[in-house]
Amino acid sequence: MSGTKVNIHYTDWFADTVRRLREDGLLLCTVDTSGKPNVMTIGWATFGSIWGRPVCVVLVRPSRFSYGYLEATGEFTVNVPPKELAMAVALCGKVSGRDYDKFRQANLTPVPARSVKAPIIQECVIHYECKTIHSTDVRPESFPQAILNEYYPSGDFHRIYFGEIVEAYADPDAADRLRSQPPGLSVMP
Ligand SMILES: Cc1cc2nc3c(=O)[nH]c(=O)nc-3n(C[C@H](O)[C@H](O)[C@H](O)COP(=O)(O)O)c2cc1C
Repeated sequence: MSGTKVNIHYTDWFADTVRRLREDGLLLCTVDTSGKPNVMTIGWATFGSIWGRPVCVVLVRPSRFSYGYLEATGEFTVNVPPKELAMAVALCGKVSGRDYDKFRQANLTPVPARSVKAPIIQECVIHYECKTIHSTDVRPESFPQAILNEYYPSGDFHRIYFGEIVEAYADPDAADRLRSQPPGLSVMP
């Protein structure tokens, strides 16, 4: 339940959030107009302050099923998974909500968020609830060719969503859970 989690300032867990973004990825939850949720892995995001507001920026390609949900409602949550969820995060970054109920497949529990319609993921340890206040498309003409070649060989240019962070909270034991090793992995002495 989101109620057992404690409020944080959106900058409190910045370093751990970005570290997890760059390791396995974070989990982006979206919702359609009927309340049906979806989850996908994201590896690109930024957190900061724009227009006098705390903002989380995510980039989603039009080919993603989540894109339609974002366009429909504009509400999303960004969830930071502990390392033990690595397999679930990999699955959510490989298969589509078009074809699978990823929450069930990955054993992730969607629970109601506090202020947005998209759910949070109970098993994650840090949560940012966001409402889109602006979106814009990546414009190929303004990119170095090297980036176009590497990231956009077939187009599918991201849409960039600027979400105002309206709630941020974490598990009381987030620090321990974020730094623990996944089962089966041992630390070298
Ligand atoms: C580590 C990782 C990071 C990813 N980051 C992004 C991202 O930032 N933006 C994006 O559009 N897709 C990203 N993807 C791809 C989507 O997660 C993937 O296509 C997913 O299946 C889309 O799910 P959906 O069709 O249910 O929306 C990433 C995948 C992985 C494995």
